[in-house]
Amino acid sequence: MGRKFFVGGNWKCNGTTEEVNKIVSTLNAGEVPSQDVVEVVVSPPFVFLPLVKTSLRPDFHVAAQNCWVKKGGAFTGEVSAEMLVNLSIPWVIIGHSERRLILKESNEFVADKVAYALAQGLKVIACIGETLEQREAGSTVAVVAEQTKAIAAKISNWTDVVLAYEPVWAIGTGKVATPAQAQEVHFELRKWLQANVSPEVAASTRIIYGGSVTAANCKELAAQPDVDGFLVGGASLKPEFIDIIKSAEVKKNA
Ligand code: 13P
Repeated sequence: MGRKFFVGGNWKCNGTTEEVNKIVSTLNAGEVPSQDVVEVVVSPPFVFLPLVKTSLRPDFHVAAQNCWVKKGGAFTGEVSAEMLVNLSIPWVIIGHSERRLILKESNEFVADKVAYALAQGLKVIACIGETLEQREAGSTVAVVAEQTKAIAAKISNWTDVVLAYEPVWAIGTGKVATPAQAQEVHFELRKWLQANVSPEVAASTRIIYGGSVTAANCKELAAQPDVDGFLVGGASLKPEFIDIIKSAEVKKNA
């Protein structure tokens, strides 16, 4: 089974109702490859999820940007996985580096969230990635392996997991990983999954790249054999997101 190309748009903490409506209109009018070729998921802030879900074209899906680590209750300010399920939100992003670093979410906490969200029936975009300091120290593969290991220790079924490799130094900096840099880490991650989870999971799990992806650089990245799509930040708020979705065509001709 081939891995279907996956393009996620992470809107982060951006948008007004007017801006959200504008982005959705642009997405709805975009000409993109069919769902057999590419899976598209956009992730607005929680408060806009119902609006986007009802106004977005049916071949695109929505993701929350986070959810609570266990069953809801007395956790002020949190949103539970059960609530997302109740609203028929199919996907959730977990462990984004902005949460790992700013809100101090540990590997274990992230892994617990992934496991809990999956157990409730959500599909998970699980984010991993090294800082510039870690890359310069030569520990990139060790860092992403450790982050993946924490998740692997708590889940047994990877069917509903997309792994997003997002080097912290490439996020929001305009400093995209080179295709070779991305391919190298994706290859090492797949190798890690093969050795530590199973050859089947390694072969079928989508590993997507995030960090300063644009219409200008997406095709070269998409052409790498172990790059199965993207998690796009800034450019997902712009019309060029459509061009990034279209980069899935690169795989069809591969
Ligand atoms: P940018 O595309 O803005 O660099 O953000 C990437 C990202 O963090 C997606 O989750």
